Amino acid sequence: MKFGYFDDANREYVITQPDTPLPWINYLGCQAYFGIISNTAGGYSFYRDARLRRVSRYRYNNVPYDLGGRYIYLRDDDSGEFWSPSWQPTRNDLEDYTCRHGLGYTIIGSRYSGIEAHSTYFVPLGEDLEIWRLTLTNRRSKPASLSVYSSIEFCLWDANDDATNFQRNFSIGEVEIEDGVIYHKTEYRERRNHFAYFACSRKTEGFDTQREAFVGPYRGWEKPLAVERGKLSNSVAHGWAPIGAHHVELQLGPDETQEVIFLLGYHENPQEQKFDPPASQTVNKKTVKPVIAKYLNFADVDAAFEKLRQYWDGLLAVCQVETPDVHTNRMVNIWNAYQCMATFNMSRSASFYESGIGRGLGFRDSNQDLLGFVQMVPARARERILDLAATQLPSGGAYHQYQPLTKRGNNDVGSNFNDDPHWLIVGVAAYLKETGDWSILDEPVPYDNAPGSEQPLYEHLQRSFQYTLDRLGPHGLPLIGRADWNDCLNLNCFSDTPGQSFQTTTNKDGKVAESVFIAALFVLAGRELAEIALRRGRTDEAQRDLAEVARMEDTVREQGWDGEWFLRAYDDFGRKVGSKECAEGKIFIETQGFCVLAGIGLDDGRAHAAMESVAKHLATEHGIILQQPAYSRYYLELGEISSYPPGYKENAGIFCHNNPWVMIAETQVGNGDRAYDYYARINPSAREPISELHRCEPYVYAQMIAGRDAPTHGEAKNSWLTGTAAWNYYAVTQWILGIRPTFEGLEIRPVVPKGWRGFKATRLFRGVTYNIAVTREGEGNQVALKVDGEPWESTVVPAPVEGQREVAVEVTLK
Ligand code: GLC
Ligand code: GLC
Repeated sequence: MKFGYFDDANREYVITQPDTPLPWINYLGCQAYFGIISNTAGGYSFYRDARLRRVSRYRYNNVPYDLGGRYIYLRDDDSGEFWSPSWQPTRNDLEDYTCRHGLGYTIIGSRYSGIEAHSTYFVPLGEDLEIWRLTLTNRRSKPASLSVYSSIEFCLWDANDDATNFQRNFSIGEVEIEDGVIYHKTEYRERRNHFAYFACSRKTEGFDTQREAFVGPYRGWEKPLAVERGKLSNSVAHGWAPIGAHHVELQLGPDETQEVIFLLGYHENPQEQKFDPPASQTVNKKTVKPVIAKYLNFADVDAAFEKLRQYWDGLLAVCQVETPDVHTNRMVNIWNAYQCMATFNMSRSASFYESGIGRGLGFRDSNQDLLGFVQMVPARARERILDLAATQLPSGGAYHQYQPLTKRGNNDVGSNFNDDPHWLIVGVAAYLKETGDWSILDEPVPYDNAPGSEQPLYEHLQRSFQYTLDRLGPHGLPLIGRADWNDCLNLNCFSDTPGQSFQTTTNKDGKVAESVFIAALFVLAGRELAEIALRRGRTDEAQRDLAEVARMEDTVREQGWDGEWFLRAYDDFGRKVGSKECAEGKIFIETQGFCVLAGIGLDDGRAHAAMESVAKHLATEHGIILQQPAYSRYYLELGEISSYPPGYKENAGIFCHNNPWVMIAETQVGNGDRAYDYYARINPSAREPISELHRCEPYVYAQMIAGRDAPTHGEAKNSWLTGTAAWNYYAVTQWILGIRPTFEGLEIRPVVPKGWRGFKATRLFRGVTYNIAVTREGEGNQVALKVDGEPWESTVVPAPVEGQREVAVEVTLK
């Protein structure tokens, strides 16, 4: 069952039923000011940091959980009837409800009692504000007297404190109202130089800024007393819960259309110009007034919306494909690329599954995310890499997370996730391959942000590599530390006390438990590092790296192979994890995918065997599950993984992030049919017809789909902010379609299904557009290229002569 449809031409998903199985959201903003918006206008906004600069309030664990948002109420002043054109919060039976989630904007439309309403929500590029543009049309045969009410609940900035510290917060709320603009200035008098504002393009009949005056005692957003009465009380918030609400009256003739703009924004004043007059405690509004005036102007709003469209068109134009599969096209051309930008902006901080008050930016996550967005925003990728590297520790280890506002490592979570440092190498390699910008390696970057500790980025990569060599365990495999990629395989935690963190509680000295996964990652990263060293003329270093890589590969073959698949780890007792000897958790996906994609076992049959074992033991119709059999009880020595009920999350859920590793591995062993088949199983667009089961948005990947041990097999959770976005994009574009940036140039080596007659693609790479046409002539994966009509020996297309902006590449598959 579907709850809407894809409008590919407009690059929108159109939801046609408001009560979707879960709130289906979109993101507003792509630079500094951001918002989450659900299909019923629920959600919240923030400036840069979802925890520390929350602009509007979100009430956690609400029912339904997107309640609270950018609500507009319409009231028929003749009958007194009122409703929400976005369905929530009044939930009237709307006609023609549609929610169009597009790239950086959402338009919610509906019709009720002959009144058509469309609200367009977006954040103009380069501005710290959001526009709600309401378009009303009277489809009645008679004139209509309408009232429009806006509403937003302000957050007192630190979202965590806002949700918990009531003894203080109920007394500190402050606002100012001037010319119909509501200014939220809690804590402005003392240590803040920023405030929020809420403005309206029309003359207002009244306002409210105290929540209780607006909603009334013992009422909620679904039935505000002020809207019911048709009159706001011009309340001024002193403490309690500051809100913004305007009242606008409209007379609409038959078929007449009128528009209203509401602006919600964030603004900072220079520290010495906070007040006006300077000796007062009144907010200086001189700097913000021009911004407000501009975006209350319809022509400027039109222009800003058009600019936003062009911005996204530009980003997506970097890679466009035309394959025989609509789901592949849609995801690659629109939604997967878009989701990669969301993970770039948000990392794992703010969604309806990530609270925005928990995690900062993950070191491991953000480096992997680069694989999905570096081609769209290379300059920002560069900045991200340097920020990440600056949180690396002198040991080569890394803070597991850092805070986006301060760019400092997060001490609460600390370090010792022993896979972390290698992802920096993977991220930097992806950046170099895409851009050819070798200068980044010479950038001086501090360790742990300590001034004076700066060294070239290249040196950071060396330390990442060395970090593992300094931490080898009894079998010669890397010690796992707190966890490797799988945050829930906690082999040194041994936690038996409620409330302890599985990740940071460490009861063992960590000198025994080893990770085969980190070994594979070390091999992959080590190869990249050797290539980088070679190109910097550091032949001796390259040789040393390759020797260590070869040694690690031998170790994996000897100590990390279980007969039919790769082992997962050794626990603190030196016992195997992920072996046929285990009672549960005999086989894990991570090492099958990652060892093979790192090239281990490609020449000795192990890769092939590992892939067969995945197909036999782990593949389900809804995707590949993380391990089998699921853990049916808690294992103290394994940690959080066995705390989840069977089939969920890391305990045998379909953890979509690592499915693409297997897809890439399948392309490495030449099996395009299977690579594509695995891709199709978790592709959200392909799963759209089973939306009632899948439940999450059909336009973005979810972190997890319940595995076959779960009672809800096939149900997705934790959509949007997941490494799945980058890895699937990378797997399908670079390995299945085979359009792959390398240090030398653009390689084209597809491994696609036998049944595909071919496909087309355009790829902007280092300033040149490659027009690629692939034709299948045989059933295999052998590739022959013609570049601008001339046969070309290798699969890597050389850079064209200076000044040539387009290259035609014909590819024959035999
Ligand atoms: C979450 C984390 C990621 C981790 C994965 C597996 O997605 O963000 O860092 O690798 O879970 O545990
Ligand atoms: C939990 C989740 C895991 C995530 C981790 C982040 O362990 O199961 O997916 O990576 O939290 O701290």
